[in-house]
Amino acid sequence: MVIKKKIEVKNLCIGYNNKQIIENLNLDIFQNEVLAIIGPANSGKTSLLRSLNRMTDFNAEVKVTGQILLDGENIYDDEDSTFLRRRVGMVSPLPVGLPMTIKENVTYAPRMAGCKDEKELDHIMEDCLKKAALWDEVKDRLNGLATKLSGGQQQRLTIARALSHHPEVLCLDEFSIAIDPVTTMKIEAVLHELKKDMTIVMVTNVINQAKRLGDRTAMMLHGNILDIDTNERIFGGHTQDKRTKDYIEGLFG
Ligand SMILES: Nc1ncnc2c1ncn2[C@@H]1O[C@H](COP(=O)(O)OP(=O)(O)OP(=O)(O)O)[C@@H](O)[C@H]1O
Ligand SMILES: [Mg+2]
Repeated sequence: MVIKKKIEVKNLCIGYNNKQIIENLNLDIFQNEVLAIIGPANSGKTSLLRSLNRMTDFNAEVKVTGQILLDGENIYDDEDSTFLRRRVGMVSPLPVGLPMTIKENVTYAPRMAGCKDEKELDHIMEDCLKKAALWDEVKDRLNGLATKLSGGQQQRLTIARALSHHPEVLCLDEFSIAIDPVTTMKIEAVLHELKKDMTIVMVTNVINQAKRLGDRTAMMLHGNILDIDTNERIFGGHTQDKRTKDYIEGLFG
Protein backbone atom coordinates (compact mmCIF):
# COMPACT_ATOMS: atom_id res chain seq x y z
CA MET A 1 0.00 0.00 0.00
CA VAL A 2 1.29 3.45 -0.90
CA ILE A 3 1.30 5.78 2.07
CA LYS A 4 0.33 9.31 1.10
CA LYS A 5 1.70 12.21 3.08
CA LYS A 6 -1.22 14.46 3.92
CA ILE A 7 0.87 17.01 5.83
CA GLU A 8 4.60 17.64 5.74
CA VAL A 9 6.02 19.93 8.39
CA LYS A 10 9.44 21.21 7.36
CA ASN A 11 11.85 23.14 9.57
CA LEU A 12 9.03 24.57 11.63
CA CYS A 13 10.06 27.20 14.17
CA ILE A 14 7.58 28.78 16.57
CA GLY A 15 8.42 31.54 19.01
CA TYR A 16 6.40 33.70 21.37
CA ASN A 17 7.80 37.17 22.02
CA ASN A 18 11.13 36.05 20.58
CA LYS A 19 11.31 33.05 22.92
CA GLN A 20 11.79 30.03 20.71
CA ILE A 21 9.40 27.19 21.62
CA ILE A 22 9.77 24.93 18.59
CA GLU A 23 12.96 24.83 16.57
CA ASN A 24 13.38 23.14 13.19
CA LEU A 25 10.71 20.54 13.69
CA ASN A 26 10.07 18.08 10.89
CA LEU A 27 7.08 15.81 10.77
CA ASP A 28 5.12 13.83 8.19
CA ILE A 29 1.47 13.03 8.81
CA PHE A 30 -0.03 10.30 6.66
CA GLN A 31 -3.45 10.33 5.06
CA ASN A 32 -6.14 8.49 7.07
CA GLU A 33 -3.95 7.84 10.05
CA VAL A 34 -4.55 8.80 13.64
CA LEU A 35 -1.37 10.43 14.83
CA ALA A 36 -1.26 10.83 18.59
CA ILE A 37 1.05 13.47 20.05
CA ILE A 38 2.10 12.96 23.64
CA GLY A 39 4.56 14.67 25.95
CA PRO A 40 4.72 16.55 29.22
CA ALA A 41 3.26 20.04 29.81
CA ASN A 42 4.89 22.92 27.92
CA SER A 43 6.55 20.68 25.37
CA GLY A 44 4.89 22.57 22.50
CA LYS A 45 2.12 20.11 21.57
CA THR A 46 -0.63 22.72 21.37
CA SER A 47 1.63 25.18 19.55
CA LEU A 48 2.46 22.57 16.92
CA LEU A 49 -1.19 21.53 16.54
CA ARG A 50 -2.43 25.11 16.19
CA SER A 51 0.14 25.88 13.53
CA LEU A 52 -1.38 23.16 11.33
CA ASN A 53 -4.39 25.31 10.51
CA ARG A 54 -2.77 28.65 11.26
CA MET A 55 -4.76 29.26 14.43
CA THR A 56 -1.46 30.78 15.53
CA ASP A 57 -2.25 33.70 13.18
CA PHE A 58 -4.66 35.00 15.82
CA ASN A 59 -1.84 35.55 18.28
CA ALA A 60 0.16 38.71 17.55
CA GLU A 61 3.10 37.60 19.71
CA VAL A 62 3.73 34.41 17.82
CA LYS A 63 6.22 34.03 15.00
CA VAL A 64 6.09 30.95 12.79
CA THR A 65 8.67 30.12 10.13
CA GLY A 66 9.28 27.05 8.02
CA GLN A 67 6.81 25.24 5.84
CA ILE A 68 3.70 23.19 6.39
CA LEU A 69 2.62 21.43 3.24
CA LEU A 70 -0.96 20.22 2.92
CA ASP A 71 -1.23 17.91 -0.10
CA GLY A 72 2.11 19.35 -1.20
CA GLU A 73 1.21 23.04 -0.93
CA ASN A 74 2.50 25.37 1.73
CA ILE A 75 -0.41 26.57 3.88
CA TYR A 76 1.51 29.71 4.72
CA ASP A 77 1.73 30.78 1.04
CA ASP A 78 -1.90 31.88 0.88
CA GLU A 79 -2.85 35.23 2.43
CA ASP A 80 -6.32 34.03 3.37
CA SER A 81 -6.55 31.12 5.78
CA THR A 82 -10.35 30.79 5.87
CA PHE A 83 -10.41 27.95 3.35
CA LEU A 84 -7.54 26.24 5.13
CA ARG A 85 -9.55 26.14 8.38
CA ARG A 86 -12.32 24.32 6.57
CA ARG A 87 -9.85 21.74 5.35
CA VAL A 88 -8.09 21.41 8.70
CA GLY A 89 -10.54 21.51 11.61
CA MET A 90 -9.59 22.15 15.23
CA VAL A 91 -11.24 20.92 18.41
CA SER A 92 -10.01 22.77 21.50
CA PRO A 93 -9.50 21.25 24.97
CA LEU A 94 -12.46 23.00 26.54
CA PRO A 95 -15.60 23.08 24.44
CA VAL A 96 -16.66 26.50 23.28
CA GLY A 97 -20.31 26.28 22.31
CA LEU A 98 -21.33 29.34 20.37
CA PRO A 99 -24.19 31.06 22.21
CA MET A 100 -26.78 29.83 19.75
CA THR A 101 -29.03 26.81 19.36
CA ILE A 102 -27.68 23.33 18.72
CA LYS A 103 -28.94 23.51 15.15
CA GLU A 104 -27.41 26.94 14.54
CA ASN A 105 -24.07 25.74 15.86
CA VAL A 106 -23.83 22.87 13.41
CA THR A 107 -25.30 24.69 10.40
CA TYR A 108 -23.32 27.91 10.89
CA ALA A 109 -20.39 26.87 8.68
CA PRO A 110 -22.46 25.49 5.78
CA ARG A 111 -24.63 28.62 5.88
CA MET A 112 -21.52 30.82 5.77
CA ALA A 113 -20.35 28.72 2.83
CA GLY A 114 -23.57 29.69 1.01
CA CYS A 115 -25.94 26.78 1.67
CA LYS A 116 -29.51 28.11 2.02
CA ASP A 117 -31.55 24.98 1.42
CA GLU A 118 -33.14 24.13 4.80
CA LYS A 119 -33.55 20.46 3.90
CA GLU A 120 -29.90 20.21 2.96
CA LEU A 121 -28.92 22.02 6.17
CA ASP A 122 -31.05 19.62 8.22
CA HIS A 123 -29.38 16.72 6.48
CA ILE A 124 -25.88 18.07 7.22
CA MET A 125 -26.86 18.72 10.84
CA GLU A 126 -28.19 15.22 11.39
CA ASP A 127 -25.22 13.64 9.68
CA CYS A 128 -22.65 15.60 11.72
CA LEU A 129 -24.48 15.07 15.01
CA LYS A 130 -24.72 11.35 14.31
CA LYS A 131 -21.03 11.15 13.44
CA ALA A 132 -20.24 12.93 16.69
CA ALA A 133 -22.42 10.44 18.63
CA LEU A 134 -24.68 13.22 19.88
CA TRP A 135 -27.80 12.91 17.73
CA ASP A 136 -29.79 10.62 20.00
CA GLU A 137 -29.25 12.88 22.99
CA VAL A 138 -30.23 16.13 21.27
CA LYS A 139 -32.62 15.27 18.45
CA ASP A 140 -35.59 16.49 20.50
CA ARG A 141 -34.02 19.79 21.49
CA LEU A 142 -32.27 21.00 18.36
CA ASN A 143 -33.61 24.50 18.88
CA GLY A 144 -32.44 24.62 22.49
CA LEU A 145 -29.40 26.62 23.50
CA ALA A 146 -26.11 24.76 23.05
CA THR A 147 -24.72 26.38 26.17
CA LYS A 148 -27.22 24.34 28.22
CA LEU A 149 -25.68 21.05 27.17
CA SER A 150 -23.40 19.18 29.53
CA GLY A 151 -19.62 19.50 29.14
CA GLY A 152 -19.35 16.16 27.36
CA GLN A 153 -22.22 17.02 25.06
CA GLN A 154 -20.69 20.40 24.26
CA GLN A 155 -17.41 18.70 23.41
CA ARG A 156 -19.21 16.40 20.99
CA LEU A 157 -21.04 19.44 19.57
CA THR A 158 -17.65 21.04 18.94
CA ILE A 159 -16.68 17.92 17.02
CA ALA A 160 -19.98 18.00 15.07
CA ARG A 161 -19.32 21.65 14.26
CA ALA A 162 -15.81 20.86 13.06
CA LEU A 163 -17.24 18.07 10.89
CA SER A 164 -19.76 20.42 9.28
CA HIS A 165 -16.85 21.90 7.31
CA HIS A 166 -16.10 18.46 5.85
CA PRO A 167 -12.50 18.69 7.02
CA GLU A 168 -9.79 16.56 5.48
CA VAL A 169 -7.77 16.75 8.68
CA LEU A 170 -9.22 16.90 12.17
CA CYS A 171 -6.98 18.18 14.97
CA LEU A 172 -8.00 17.54 18.54
CA ASP A 173 -6.27 19.01 21.56
CA GLU A 174 -6.90 17.02 24.74
CA PHE A 175 -10.54 16.53 23.83
CA SER A 176 -11.30 14.45 26.91
CA ILE A 177 -9.83 16.78 29.52
CA ALA A 178 -13.20 17.85 30.88
CA ILE A 179 -15.38 14.86 30.18
CA ASP A 180 -16.30 11.62 31.88
CA PRO A 181 -14.90 8.22 30.84
CA VAL A 182 -18.16 7.04 29.26
CA THR A 183 -18.36 10.08 26.97
CA THR A 184 -14.65 9.76 26.26
CA MET A 185 -15.15 6.20 25.05
CA LYS A 186 -18.05 7.36 22.86
CA ILE A 187 -15.85 9.99 21.23
CA GLU A 188 -13.01 7.54 20.84
CA ALA A 189 -15.36 5.23 18.94
CA VAL A 190 -16.39 8.20 16.79
CA LEU A 191 -12.78 9.01 15.95
CA HIS A 192 -12.11 5.42 15.07
CA GLU A 193 -14.91 5.60 12.48
CA LEU A 194 -13.91 9.05 11.22
CA LYS A 195 -10.40 8.08 10.29
CA LYS A 196 -11.80 6.14 7.35
CA ASP A 197 -12.62 9.51 5.78
CA MET A 198 -10.01 11.83 7.23
CA THR A 199 -6.67 12.26 8.87
CA ILE A 200 -6.68 12.79 12.61
CA VAL A 201 -4.02 14.49 14.70
CA MET A 202 -4.68 14.18 18.37
CA VAL A 203 -2.80 15.72 21.29
CA THR A 204 -3.35 13.82 24.49
CA ASN A 205 -1.96 13.70 27.99
CA VAL A 206 -3.52 10.30 28.49
CA ILE A 207 -0.98 7.73 27.44
CA ASN A 208 -3.55 4.96 27.17
CA GLN A 209 -5.64 7.10 24.85
CA ALA A 210 -2.69 7.44 22.48
CA LYS A 211 -2.19 3.71 22.79
CA ARG A 212 -5.85 2.92 22.08
CA LEU A 213 -6.45 5.37 19.26
CA GLY A 214 -3.20 6.13 17.51
CA ASP A 215 -1.83 4.35 14.49
CA ARG A 216 1.41 6.15 15.27
CA THR A 217 2.50 8.19 18.25
CA ALA A 218 4.90 11.11 18.41
CA MET A 219 6.59 12.05 21.66
CA MET A 220 7.38 15.74 22.17
CA LEU A 221 9.74 17.29 24.67
CA HIS A 222 11.08 20.86 24.80
CA GLY A 223 9.70 21.65 21.36
CA ASN A 224 11.23 18.65 19.65
CA ILE A 225 9.89 15.33 18.49
CA LEU A 226 11.98 12.78 20.34
CA ASP A 227 10.30 9.78 18.81
CA ILE A 228 7.73 8.98 16.20
CA ASP A 229 6.77 5.48 15.20
CA THR A 230 3.95 2.98 14.93
CA ASN A 231 2.12 2.34 18.18
CA GLU A 232 3.28 -1.22 18.05
CA ARG A 233 6.90 -0.06 18.25
CA ILE A 234 6.47 2.92 20.59
CA PHE A 235 4.40 0.99 23.12
CA GLY A 236 6.30 -2.21 22.52
CA GLY A 237 9.39 -0.64 24.04
CA HIS A 238 11.19 0.11 20.74
CA THR A 239 11.73 3.82 21.29
CA GLN A 240 14.62 5.81 19.81
CA ASP A 241 14.97 7.91 22.92
CA LYS A 242 14.93 6.49 26.42
CA ARG A 243 12.95 9.51 27.66
CA THR A 244 9.98 8.37 25.57
CA LYS A 245 9.94 5.02 27.32
CA ASP A 246 10.35 6.73 30.70
CA TYR A 247 7.46 9.08 29.95
CA ILE A 248 5.20 6.25 28.82
CA GLU A 249 6.03 4.33 31.97
CA GLY A 250 5.15 7.36 34.08
CA LEU A 251 8.64 8.05 35.36
CA PHE A 252 8.24 11.77 34.58
CA GLY A 253 5.68 14.17 33.15
N1 LIG B 1 0.17 32.59 23.69
C1 LIG B 1 1.36 32.36 24.25
N2 LIG B 1 2.18 33.37 24.61
C2 LIG B 1 3.39 33.12 25.15
N3 LIG B 1 3.88 31.90 25.39
C3 LIG B 1 3.11 30.86 25.05
C4 LIG B 1 1.80 31.02 24.46
N4 LIG B 1 1.28 29.80 24.22
C5 LIG B 1 2.20 28.91 24.65
N5 LIG B 1 3.29 29.53 25.13
C6 LIG B 1 4.48 28.89 25.68
O1 LIG B 1 4.94 27.92 24.76
C7 LIG B 1 5.38 26.75 25.44
C8 LIG B 1 4.69 25.56 24.86
O2 LIG B 1 3.30 25.66 25.14
P1 LIG B 1 2.20 24.68 24.53
O3 LIG B 1 0.90 25.16 24.99
O4 LIG B 1 2.43 24.55 23.08
O5 LIG B 1 2.62 23.32 25.25
P2 LIG B 1 1.78 21.99 25.49
O6 LIG B 1 2.74 20.87 25.23
O7 LIG B 1 0.52 22.01 24.73
O8 LIG B 1 1.51 22.03 27.05
P3 LIG B 1 0.23 21.45 27.89
O9 LIG B 1 0.43 19.96 27.97
O10 LIG B 1 0.34 22.11 29.22
O11 LIG B 1 -1.01 21.83 27.16
C9 LIG B 1 5.11 26.99 26.92
O12 LIG B 1 6.31 27.36 27.55
C10 LIG B 1 4.13 28.12 26.94
O13 LIG B 1 4.30 28.91 28.09
MG1 LIG C 1 -1.47 21.97 25.27
